[in-house]
Amino acid sequence: MEDRIASLQTVAVAAIVAVAARKELDAARVAYLGKSGEITRLSEAMREVAKEDRPRIGKLLNELRQAVNAALEAKEQTLAAAADSAALATLDITLPGTPRETGSIHPLTRLLDQTVRIFRRMGFVLADGPDIETEWHCFDALNTPADHPARNEQDTFYLPDGRLLRTHTSTVQVRTMESQIPPVRIIAPGAAYRRDEVDATHLAQFNQMEGLYVDREVSVADLKGTLEFFFRELFGPETQMRFRPHFFPFTEPSYEIDIRARALGGKWMELAGCGMVDPAVFEQICQKRGDRVYDPDQVTGFAFGFGLDRLAMNLTHISDIRMLVENDLRFLQQFPA
Ligand code: PHE
Repeated sequence: MEDRIASLQTVAVAAIVAVAARKELDAARVAYLGKSGEITRLSEAMREVAKEDRPRIGKLLNELRQAVNAALEAKEQTLAAAADSAALATLDITLPGTPRETGSIHPLTRLLDQTVRIFRRMGFVLADGPDIETEWHCFDALNTPADHPARNEQDTFYLPDGRLLRTHTSTVQVRTMESQIPPVRIIAPGAAYRRDEVDATHLAQFNQMEGLYVDREVSVADLKGTLEFFFRELFGPETQMRFRPHFFPFTEPSYEIDIRARALGGKWMELAGCGMVDPAVFEQICQKRGDRVYDPDQVTGFAFGFGLDRLAMNLTHISDIRMLVENDLRFLQQFPA
C-alpha cells in the first residue's frame, strides 16, 4: 500500500506538470480525484489495511491528495497566465489609445445659463409659454392692431387654423399676467420665429430672452438699473450703455439699448428692446381676466427682450450665426467645458 501511494504520487505530479492545455488538466483531475479516480480507489482499499496501520496509511493518502491538488492548482495558474500573455502578444500596447470624447456646453446654453443666473439674483423667476400661439397672445394683447406690419403673413409662419409660431417671447408677458397676480418678476427664454431669409446674420428660428416686472410704482429708473446691473454682470464693470428712444406697440416709452463692451469687440451694438408696459396692454389683460388687478392706475411695469443668438455670436467672435445650429463638431469643440 505504501509503495502504491508513493509511486502514484510521483507519477501523478509528473503527469500534471507535463500538462499543456486546460482540457488535459480537467482530464487529469478526473483521473486522480474523480469518482472512480485512482486516489479514490486507493482510499477504498483502506478497508483491507490492518487496523494498526490505518492511521499511518491514512496520513500518507492525505498527503497524496494534497500534493495532487497543489499540483493541479499550480498548473491552473500557469495555464491562465499563459493565456493572458498570448492575448497580450497580439496587442500593441505602444499604440496611442482611443481618447474618450467628452461633451461641452454649447455657447448658446452657456450664455442662457449665465443670463438666468444673474436675473435670479435679482428675484426674477423663469416663466414659459408655447411656441405655437394665438394671434391674440402674439399681437392683439400686446397692442398690435390687425393692420400692423408685424402681422403681415410674410413675417411669420401661420398654421391652417390661424395660430402661428410666435414672433417674439413677449407672448409670455401676456400669459404670465393672465395667470398670475402682481407683483410679477419673470424672465422667459425661448424660441421665436420669423420668415426671414436665412443668412449669416438671420435664422428663421432664433432664441430670445424676455423679461417683465409689474408692481406698484415700477419706474424707468428700475428698468435702467436692472438692465445696467445685468449687462455689467455679463460683460464686465466697464460696460457702457445707451438707451435710445424707440417704438414698440406694447411699451411706452420704449427704448433700444446699445452696449459697448470689450467682450463684444469694443464697438457699440444694438442689443435689446425695452420699455414701460403700455397701459393699453394692462387694459387687455384686465378684460381677459375679468378683474382689475392689472389696473394701469394701480400698477406699472417694465419689459425687455433681446436675442440670445446674436449675442452668443458676438461673444464667441463667429462670423456666421448658422454655426450655432449646425452641430458641426469642429465648431463646437472650440468651446471646451
Ligand atoms: N418683443 C420685442 C422684439 O422682439 C422686444 C421687446 C420686448 C421690446 C419687450 C420691448 C419690450 O423685438
